[in-house]
Amino acid sequence: MNSFFSVKDIDNLDKIVEESLELKKNPRSYLKLGEGKMLGLVFLNPSLRTRMSTQKAALNLGMDVIVMNMAQDGWALETQDGVIMNGNTVEHIREAAAVMGQYCDIIGLRSFPSLKDREEDYNEDLFNKFKKYCQVPLISLESATRHPLQSLTDLITIKETWTGNSFQKPNVLLAWAPHIRSLPQAVPNSFAEWMCRAQQEDMLNFKIAQPKGYELSTEFTQEAEISYDLEEAIKNVDYIYVKNWSSYEDYGRVYSIDQDWMLDQNKLKTTRSAKVMHCLPVRRDLVIASDILDSESSIVIQQAGNRVWAAQAVLKRILESINK
Ligand code: CP
Repeated sequence: MNSFFSVKDIDNLDKIVEESLELKKNPRSYLKLGEGKMLGLVFLNPSLRTRMSTQKAALNLGMDVIVMNMAQDGWALETQDGVIMNGNTVEHIREAAAVMGQYCDIIGLRSFPSLKDREEDYNEDLFNKFKKYCQVPLISLESATRHPLQSLTDLITIKETWTGNSFQKPNVLLAWAPHIRSLPQAVPNSFAEWMCRAQQEDMLNFKIAQPKGYELSTEFTQEAEISYDLEEAIKNVDYIYVKNWSSYEDYGRVYSIDQDWMLDQNKLKTTRSAKVMHCLPVRRDLVIASDILDSESSIVIQQAGNRVWAAQAVLKRILESINK
């Protein structure tokens, strides 16, 4: 593996999930693999889980890590070409990414979308430019359209917690939930993309429930069943992945804060004792009711814990390809 941007970088989902769960059992079994190698974690936006779990994963592999919080500590970055830099931006991405590539063997980059220009966001302009100029393997720590380390984690967590027999497949629902802000589509896009692929590989059944106007790009949802009725869609599911996102069609728009879409105990009752997932951070009693988050139904903490093993499996594969 030379970089990690989407599910397309993985040839066999079951294999990488198994590899991640093996690393969870023996976290330091590849301590020599990353010796002498530097991981740079570059954040253009805030993070708790991604920052700490990826750092821990790298340390488990014997790597050294530099964390760069660009928004607080870096120079204001110019990403457009042909601009006379007489405004607020101080350093061009051409130099900044190239210099970071001099210090690091692998770089992880987090960059959220603007939610203003859909074409620019969905072209992954910033991520692609950074990849071109840094000249070392690049891992997405969440880009404008995807959050692949989160989605790999989600699949690991479903596999780890599924108690059905080998002939049964879990029913997984991605459910839109209300929020007061305009949030990116990266997490739901990515989750849908990974779950559609897992469905093709016969690992699970996948569907999406959302209010009208919140349809994700079909590039990510493919043949997933879509419902506009949460109470109907939630019946008989084994996993509910709760997440807010803004409109793709009317890009970045939030139509309403419809509390009927918040996950509460009444809705949960109609499921097959479903486990509740969320990528975190989550706003309590807006997105998910507190009594669900505090109950046995919630696996959000275990899910966040698994971020380490997803990151470690990806870093391990990249290190193996560098060391060849
Ligand atoms: N889920 C997730 O990526 O969390 P952070 O934004 O805190 O890294």
